[in-house]
Amino acid sequence: MSNGRAPGASSPETQEKPPVPRAQRLTAPGLGALKGRRKIAALTAYDAPTAALLDAAGIDVLLVGDSIEMVVYGAPDTLGASLERMVGHAKAVSGAAKRALVVGDLPYLTYHTTPEEAVRNAARFVVEGGCRAVKLEGGVQRLPMIRAILSAEIPVMGHLGLTPQSVNALGGFKVQGRRATEARRLLDEAKKLVDAGIFALVLECVPAEVAARITEAIPVPTIGIGAGAGCDGQILVFHDLVGLGAPGARTPRFVRRYADLGALVQKAAAEYVADVRAGAFPSEAESFSVEADAAAPVALYAAGSEHR
Ligand code: KIV
Repeated sequence: MSNGRAPGASSPETQEKPPVPRAQRLTAPGLGALKGRRKIAALTAYDAPTAALLDAAGIDVLLVGDSIEMVVYGAPDTLGASLERMVGHAKAVSGAAKRALVVGDLPYLTYHTTPEEAVRNAARFVVEGGCRAVKLEGGVQRLPMIRAILSAEIPVMGHLGLTPQSVNALGGFKVQGRRATEARRLLDEAKKLVDAGIFALVLECVPAEVAARITEAIPVPTIGIGAGAGCDGQILVFHDLVGLGAPGARTPRFVRRYADLGALVQKAAAEYVADVRAGAFPSEAESFSVEADAAAPVALYAAGSEHR
């Protein structure tokens, strides 16, 4: 029966709405363009389900950080992080993130020797890990490697201040840039990294005033961790954000904990242990049963096996 409308036309109720535009994937240049427009929210991620959840929450940058060595593999520092393993984690994160810019964090000694080696290792994050940029730590001594990676068309994020891969040289995980000479050196190095072509700069454990001054002085976004509110964006380690650590683990002062997953996980596991020991798990609803016509043969089989 005709509805009196032209074929294909729909009523106002059924009118097809234009598809909701899927938020576009953020690129390194796109991230750079956010400077001065809005703050950037970044987190670390190491696995697919976490990456999918953080991406859906609107996170701009997912860093597959070498902090994985500490928060996932339980090491006291990041120095033992392996490229092989991190590329695998990067693949999981890249596959799950639809919108966020996924950045692979080059582990210790994968970019310290020659520019050629740095390019080959950075490219693994892109080709095998699906990342769209890499991050590396350090200032002027890294300029040849940064230039080489950029010349292979891989965007580079810098990292100054407390660079955890330098923990032995720095004498511990300490705030950097408290003295005027150190602060000036940080600013100078930030400018040199920008001149080399980095698209963003992580500032870790730097006094807020120093980070704000660097943020004003350079044209690329600064992403702070323990560097105050004056940065263009913030990054935290995911496990710190949600309190997922070994019982009693210490949290750095600059972390704001938005959830206490550690307590939730421990409580859930303790309840599970109690239920299993009491025979309260699984219930009938959590078990499978045979089809009605199979019940008799199964019973017969069980009976027969008793006589064997
Ligand atoms: O590895 C990491 O998680 C990092 C962030 C702390 C910036 O480098």
